[in-house]
Amino acid sequence: MDFEQVIISLYCLFSIVSLTSGEDCLKIDQCSCKTSQGAVDLHPLANDQENPRFTVVGGGYTYDYEPCKELTKPCATKTSGVAVCQRNTDNSYIAGDVDSATFSGVPFGNSRLNLTYTSENGGVLRKSVFHIVCVTTESGKLVSVKEDPPGSGVYLFELQTKYACLSPITPDNNKKHISTGSVLLIIFFVLITVYLVGGILFMKFFAGAQGVELIPNYEFWSSLPGYIKDGCMFTCRGCKTESSYSQI
Ligand SMILES: *[C@@H]1O[C@H](CO)[C@@H](O)[C@H](O)[C@H]1NC(C)=O
Repeated sequence: MDFEQVIISLYCLFSIVSLTSGEDCLKIDQCSCKTSQGAVDLHPLANDQENPRFTVVGGGYTYDYEPCKELTKPCATKTSGVAVCQRNTDNSYIAGDVDSATFSGVPFGNSRLNLTYTSENGGVLRKSVFHIVCVTTESGKLVSVKEDPPGSGVYLFELQTKYACLSPITPDNNKKHISTGSVLLIIFFVLITVYLVGGILFMKFFAGAQGVELIPNYEFWSSLPGYIKDGCMFTCRGCKTESSYSQI
Protein backbone atom coordinates (compact mmCIF):
# COMPACT_ATOMS: atom_id res chain seq x y z
CA MET A 1 0.00 0.00 0.00
CA ASP A 2 1.35 3.41 -0.82
CA PHE A 3 0.69 6.61 1.05
CA GLU A 4 -2.42 7.68 -0.86
CA GLN A 5 -4.12 4.36 -0.29
CA VAL A 6 -3.35 4.50 3.43
CA ILE A 7 -4.92 7.97 3.71
CA ILE A 8 -8.01 7.02 1.74
CA SER A 9 -8.50 3.76 3.68
CA LEU A 10 -8.09 5.59 7.00
CA TYR A 11 -10.62 8.20 5.91
CA CYS A 12 -13.16 5.54 4.88
CA LEU A 13 -12.62 3.61 8.12
CA PHE A 14 -13.16 6.71 10.25
CA SER A 15 -16.28 7.73 8.33
CA ILE A 16 -17.81 4.28 8.62
CA VAL A 17 -17.07 3.98 12.33
CA SER A 18 -18.30 7.52 13.04
CA LEU A 19 -21.54 6.86 11.16
CA THR A 20 -22.29 3.51 12.76
CA SER A 21 -21.28 4.24 16.35
CA GLY A 22 -24.64 5.74 17.25
CA GLU A 23 -25.12 6.84 20.79
CA ASP A 24 -26.75 4.16 22.95
CA CYS A 25 -28.88 5.11 25.91
CA LEU A 26 -26.45 4.64 28.83
CA LYS A 27 -27.74 2.58 31.71
CA ILE A 28 -28.16 4.51 34.96
CA ASP A 29 -29.85 1.65 36.79
CA GLN A 30 -32.20 -1.24 35.99
CA CYS A 31 -34.94 1.00 34.61
CA SER A 32 -33.39 4.30 33.60
CA CYS A 33 -30.85 5.39 31.04
CA LYS A 34 -29.60 8.62 29.55
CA THR A 35 -28.42 10.09 26.29
CA SER A 36 -26.89 13.50 25.67
CA GLN A 37 -30.37 14.68 24.70
CA GLY A 38 -32.25 13.52 27.75
CA ALA A 39 -33.02 10.65 30.06
CA VAL A 40 -35.56 7.84 30.08
CA ASP A 41 -36.65 7.06 33.60
CA LEU A 42 -39.22 4.30 34.17
CA HIS A 43 -39.19 4.59 37.99
CA PRO A 44 -42.71 6.01 38.10
CA LEU A 45 -43.81 2.57 36.81
CA ALA A 46 -42.58 0.88 39.99
CA ASN A 47 -45.22 -1.09 41.79
CA ASP A 48 -46.11 -1.20 45.46
CA GLN A 49 -48.75 -3.89 45.00
CA GLU A 50 -48.51 -7.63 45.45
CA ASN A 51 -49.53 -8.18 41.85
CA PRO A 52 -47.02 -7.69 39.05
CA ARG A 53 -47.03 -4.25 37.44
CA PHE A 54 -47.56 -5.69 33.96
CA THR A 55 -49.12 -8.89 32.69
CA VAL A 56 -49.55 -9.88 29.07
CA VAL A 57 -50.72 -13.08 27.39
CA GLY A 58 -49.34 -14.57 24.17
CA GLY A 59 -48.39 -17.89 22.60
CA GLY A 60 -49.99 -19.98 25.33
CA TYR A 61 -48.17 -18.29 28.21
CA THR A 62 -48.77 -15.46 30.59
CA TYR A 63 -45.88 -13.09 31.23
CA ASP A 64 -45.42 -11.02 34.37
CA TYR A 65 -43.10 -8.04 34.25
CA GLU A 66 -41.84 -5.71 36.92
CA PRO A 67 -39.64 -3.01 35.36
CA CYS A 68 -38.18 -1.17 38.34
CA LYS A 69 -38.33 -3.66 41.18
CA GLU A 70 -38.58 -7.43 41.23
CA LEU A 71 -41.57 -9.75 41.03
CA THR A 72 -42.90 -10.52 44.49
CA LYS A 73 -44.56 -13.81 43.54
CA PRO A 74 -42.11 -16.74 43.23
CA CYS A 75 -41.18 -17.71 39.68
CA ALA A 76 -39.75 -21.20 39.08
CA THR A 77 -39.37 -21.31 42.90
CA LYS A 78 -37.13 -18.24 42.84
CA THR A 79 -38.37 -15.46 45.09
CA SER A 80 -35.96 -12.63 44.36
CA GLY A 81 -34.17 -10.96 41.48
CA VAL A 82 -36.77 -11.88 38.85
CA ALA A 83 -38.00 -9.19 36.44
CA VAL A 84 -39.82 -11.33 33.87
CA CYS A 85 -41.72 -14.56 34.54
CA GLN A 86 -43.23 -16.81 31.89
CA ARG A 87 -45.96 -19.08 33.22
CA ASN A 88 -48.83 -21.37 32.34
CA THR A 89 -51.08 -23.33 34.67
CA ASP A 90 -48.45 -26.01 35.38
CA ASN A 91 -45.07 -24.29 35.19
CA SER A 92 -43.21 -21.06 35.43
CA TYR A 93 -39.89 -20.05 33.92
CA ILE A 94 -37.69 -17.06 34.61
CA ALA A 95 -37.46 -15.05 31.39
CA GLY A 96 -35.37 -12.21 32.75
CA ASP A 97 -33.20 -11.50 35.81
CA VAL A 98 -33.24 -7.99 37.26
CA ASP A 99 -29.42 -7.85 37.15
CA SER A 100 -29.28 -8.60 33.43
CA ALA A 101 -31.15 -5.43 32.39
CA THR A 102 -29.37 -3.86 29.42
CA PHE A 103 -30.35 -0.83 27.34
CA SER A 104 -29.60 -0.56 23.65
CA GLY A 105 -30.52 1.98 21.03
CA VAL A 106 -32.01 5.39 21.65
CA PRO A 107 -35.61 6.54 22.13
CA PHE A 108 -35.66 8.73 19.02
CA GLY A 109 -34.45 8.92 15.43
CA ASN A 110 -34.12 5.82 13.28
CA SER A 111 -33.03 3.68 16.20
CA ARG A 112 -35.32 2.35 18.90
CA LEU A 113 -34.91 1.75 22.57
CA ASN A 114 -34.69 -1.85 23.80
CA LEU A 115 -34.51 -2.97 27.40
CA THR A 116 -33.25 -6.55 27.31
CA TYR A 117 -33.16 -9.18 30.05
CA THR A 118 -31.78 -12.70 30.03
CA SER A 119 -32.01 -15.66 32.38
CA GLU A 120 -30.62 -19.14 32.32
CA ASN A 121 -32.60 -21.93 33.95
CA GLY A 122 -31.55 -25.55 33.64
CA GLY A 123 -29.21 -24.81 30.74
CA VAL A 124 -31.94 -23.03 28.77
CA LEU A 125 -31.38 -19.36 28.00
CA ARG A 126 -34.42 -17.13 27.81
CA LYS A 127 -34.24 -13.57 26.58
CA SER A 128 -36.87 -10.87 26.89
CA VAL A 129 -36.57 -7.78 24.71
CA PHE A 130 -38.82 -4.86 25.64
CA HIS A 131 -39.26 -2.36 22.87
CA ILE A 132 -39.93 0.80 24.84
CA VAL A 133 -42.11 3.23 22.96
CA CYS A 134 -42.91 6.82 23.85
CA VAL A 135 -46.69 7.17 23.94
CA THR A 136 -47.61 10.44 25.61
CA THR A 137 -51.15 9.35 26.42
CA GLU A 138 -50.16 6.11 28.15
CA SER A 139 -48.78 5.97 31.67
CA GLY A 140 -47.66 2.40 31.13
CA LYS A 141 -49.04 -0.48 29.07
CA LEU A 142 -47.48 -3.79 28.08
CA VAL A 143 -49.07 -4.20 24.67
CA SER A 144 -47.84 -7.45 23.17
CA VAL A 145 -45.52 -10.42 23.34
CA LYS A 146 -44.26 -12.67 20.58
CA GLU A 147 -41.66 -15.43 20.59
CA ASP A 148 -39.45 -14.57 17.64
CA PRO A 149 -38.39 -16.75 15.98
CA PRO A 150 -40.77 -19.40 17.38
CA GLY A 151 -39.02 -21.83 19.72
CA SER A 152 -35.98 -19.57 20.17
CA GLY A 153 -36.64 -18.56 23.75
CA VAL A 154 -36.47 -14.92 22.63
CA TYR A 155 -39.57 -12.96 23.57
CA LEU A 156 -40.29 -9.57 22.05
CA PHE A 157 -42.50 -7.26 24.06
CA GLU A 158 -43.79 -3.79 23.40
CA LEU A 159 -44.09 -1.43 26.33
CA GLN A 160 -45.82 1.88 25.70
CA THR A 161 -45.23 4.61 28.22
CA LYS A 162 -44.99 8.36 28.50
CA TYR A 163 -41.89 7.89 30.64
CA ALA A 164 -39.98 6.83 27.53
CA CYS A 165 -40.52 10.28 26.05
CA LEU A 166 -37.20 12.02 26.67
CA SER A 167 -37.11 14.19 29.75
CA PRO A 168 -34.46 16.90 29.97
CA ILE A 169 -31.42 15.82 31.94
CA THR A 170 -31.25 17.43 35.36
CA PRO A 171 -27.92 19.18 36.03
CA ASP A 172 -27.32 16.58 38.74
CA ASN A 173 -26.79 13.59 36.45
CA ASN A 174 -25.53 15.62 33.50
CA LYS A 175 -21.96 14.41 33.81
CA LYS A 176 -19.96 15.14 30.68
CA HIS A 177 -19.89 12.15 28.40
CA ILE A 178 -17.96 12.08 25.14
CA SER A 179 -19.37 9.71 22.57
CA THR A 180 -17.27 7.24 20.58
CA GLY A 181 -17.86 9.29 17.44
CA SER A 182 -16.45 12.46 19.01
CA VAL A 183 -13.39 10.60 20.31
CA LEU A 184 -12.70 9.24 16.82
CA LEU A 185 -13.18 12.68 15.32
CA ILE A 186 -10.70 14.18 17.80
CA ILE A 187 -8.16 11.43 17.07
CA PHE A 188 -8.66 12.03 13.34
CA PHE A 189 -7.99 15.76 13.62
CA VAL A 190 -5.00 15.21 15.91
CA LEU A 191 -3.56 12.81 13.31
CA ILE A 192 -4.19 15.32 10.51
CA THR A 193 -2.52 18.09 12.52
CA VAL A 194 0.49 15.94 13.38
CA TYR A 195 0.75 14.92 9.72
CA LEU A 196 0.57 18.51 8.44
CA VAL A 197 2.84 20.11 11.03
CA GLY A 198 5.29 17.21 11.02
CA GLY A 199 5.22 17.10 7.22
CA ILE A 200 5.85 20.81 6.82
CA LEU A 201 8.73 20.75 9.32
CA PHE A 202 10.22 17.74 7.57
CA MET A 203 9.94 19.31 4.12
CA LYS A 204 11.44 22.56 5.36
CA PHE A 205 14.41 21.27 7.33
CA PHE A 206 15.23 17.96 5.71
CA ALA A 207 14.07 18.30 2.13
CA GLY A 208 14.79 22.05 1.90
CA ALA A 209 11.43 22.75 0.27
CA GLN A 210 9.83 26.16 -0.12
CA GLY A 211 6.37 27.62 -0.82
CA VAL A 212 3.59 25.12 -1.69
CA GLU A 213 6.19 22.34 -1.80
CA LEU A 214 6.19 22.57 1.98
CA ILE A 215 2.81 20.84 2.03
CA PRO A 216 3.55 17.15 2.56
CA ASN A 217 2.58 14.93 -0.39
CA TYR A 218 1.74 18.08 -2.31
CA GLU A 219 1.34 16.24 -5.60
CA PHE A 220 -1.33 13.95 -4.19
CA TRP A 221 -3.31 16.71 -2.49
CA SER A 222 -3.19 19.00 -5.51
CA SER A 223 -4.44 16.26 -7.80
CA LEU A 224 -7.22 15.20 -5.37
CA PRO A 225 -9.81 17.71 -6.74
CA GLY A 226 -9.15 16.29 -10.19
CA TYR A 227 -9.70 12.74 -8.92
CA ILE A 228 -12.96 13.79 -7.28
CA LYS A 229 -14.14 15.50 -10.49
CA ASP A 230 -13.27 12.39 -12.52
CA GLY A 231 -15.08 10.23 -9.97
CA CYS A 232 -18.23 12.36 -10.16
CA MET A 233 -18.21 12.46 -13.96
CA PHE A 234 -17.74 8.68 -14.01
CA THR A 235 -20.76 8.30 -11.71
CA CYS A 236 -22.83 10.73 -13.79
CA ARG A 237 -22.09 8.80 -16.96
CA GLY A 238 -23.62 5.77 -15.25
CA CYS A 239 -20.23 4.24 -14.52
CA LYS A 240 -19.16 3.98 -18.14
CA THR A 241 -15.58 4.83 -19.03
CA GLU A 242 -14.85 7.77 -21.30
CA SER A 243 -14.03 5.55 -24.28
CA SER A 244 -17.23 3.50 -24.07
CA TYR A 245 -19.14 6.79 -23.69
CA SER A 246 -17.69 8.33 -26.84
CA GLN A 247 -18.44 5.16 -28.81
CA ILE A 248 -22.16 5.66 -28.26
C1 LIG B 1 -34.15 -4.20 19.48
O1 LIG B 1 -34.62 -5.52 19.44
C2 LIG B 1 -35.08 -5.95 18.17
C3 LIG B 1 -35.64 -7.33 18.32
O2 LIG B 1 -34.70 -8.22 18.87
C4 LIG B 1 -33.93 -5.90 17.18
O3 LIG B 1 -34.39 -6.27 15.90
C5 LIG B 1 -33.36 -4.50 17.14
O4 LIG B 1 -32.23 -4.47 16.31
C6 LIG B 1 -32.97 -4.04 18.53
N1 LIG B 1 -32.54 -2.67 18.44
C7 LIG B 1 -31.51 -2.19 19.15
C8 LIG B 1 -31.18 -0.77 18.95
O5 LIG B 1 -30.89 -2.87 19.95
